[in-house]
Amino acid sequence: MNFQLTEEQLAVQQAARDFAQNELLPGVIERDTHQKFPAEQIKKMGELGFMGMMVNPKYNGGGMDSISYVLAMEEISKIDASASVCMSVNNSLVCWGLERFGTEEQKEKYLKKLSTGEVIGAFCLSEPEAGSDATSQRTTAEDKGDYYLLNGTKNWITNGNSASVYIVIAQTDAEKRHKGINALIVEKGMPGFVVGKKEDKMGIRGSDTHSLMFTDVKVPKANRIGDEGFGFTFAMTTLNGGRIGIASQALGIAAGAYELALKYSKERKAFNKELSQHQAIQFKLADMATKIDAARLLVWNAAYLKDQNKDFVKAAAQAKLFASQIAQEVTTEAVQIHGGYGYVKEYHVERLMRDAKITQIYEGTTEIQKMVISRELLRQ
Ligand code: CAA
Repeated sequence: MNFQLTEEQLAVQQAARDFAQNELLPGVIERDTHQKFPAEQIKKMGELGFMGMMVNPKYNGGGMDSISYVLAMEEISKIDASASVCMSVNNSLVCWGLERFGTEEQKEKYLKKLSTGEVIGAFCLSEPEAGSDATSQRTTAEDKGDYYLLNGTKNWITNGNSASVYIVIAQTDAEKRHKGINALIVEKGMPGFVVGKKEDKMGIRGSDTHSLMFTDVKVPKANRIGDEGFGFTFAMTTLNGGRIGIASQALGIAAGAYELALKYSKERKAFNKELSQHQAIQFKLADMATKIDAARLLVWNAAYLKDQNKDFVKAAAQAKLFASQIAQEVTTEAVQIHGGYGYVKEYHVERLMRDAKITQIYEGTTEIQKMVISRELLRQ
């Protein structure tokens, strides 16, 4: 792997950094407090090409590599993890899955608008009784000839209300277990589809997380992604890539908290010298920086393998496992270094600490990542 970033990758990183500082930082505390979705900011991110970064330009995407994507994700996540989860789901779970497995017609109709951010996508797998245990889907997609009749409830759906295009995973033939599951494209406004309650969350409060209800929704057969029964493999394969996005989000949250703690430690004095001159603080900073650099190597490795069309399943799960763990540790230490100031909203680190937790839960919990990694190890 080449550690030297190209001119183009550096330019993407800088553009994301500038956007985060200029457009996301103002108002981030208010959006967190009032659970306000960053609608205007996401629209601008679409205009700048951050919503469909890896999509082929013929479908209006940026045609960029995964390394550029994780660089941008890290920068956006340093400032606003609510914006970056919207970006990650749209890029990794929705656009990537549609481009890889969708029909030409689906790409024309949906992908072209999703990759510019003109519309936002959502990925709907989790259910009240099927989160980690993803094969136990209770949502049903009954085969009615020309269409599927969709019934059921999805939970904790990122972009739940702001999305217009939803990829819904549902069971068509329960006897076939995971081979009887389909992935269907559902549009907001289809009769019988209702966006349910918004979750009042601990972190990523600016992102809109909703339950979704489907009652006798008629979804045309043309909206099925892949062959009949391909839905579970679609979901698993797409999540493999999604984990690189969430790993880079966790990395960004950690790096953002570290940068704030480093700056603060040079400004704040205690016992007649800057905090940074106390060895207790220096050791914390050393540990934080080392963990972040190690996480970045894992994230870049997973992105690199994906770009090389090599097997990246284990690498993506390892990156997410490690980055989400160190995001917990680093953000907690950042609050500690800030002392009392760290516990109040104005200094940003308490938000980053709350935001970090979700990276150990969504797109597969810590325990799921260990299952995926050990499966891959034992398969070899
Ligand atoms: N990649 C590709 N295929 C995979 C796979 C992977 N990582 N893991 C499993 N599969 C395939 C298997 O090969 C098998 O297919 P075949 O029979 O054709 O060989 C099939 O899936 C079933 O495999 P298992 O019997 O091992 O399945 P399982 O029931 O034991 O579950 C699991 C495996 C890894 C635990 C899986 O259920 C899983 O990943 N669960 C977590 C789901 C998840 O991440 N949910 C998060 C919701 S999405 C979200 O959070 C988005 C958001 O809003 C931010």
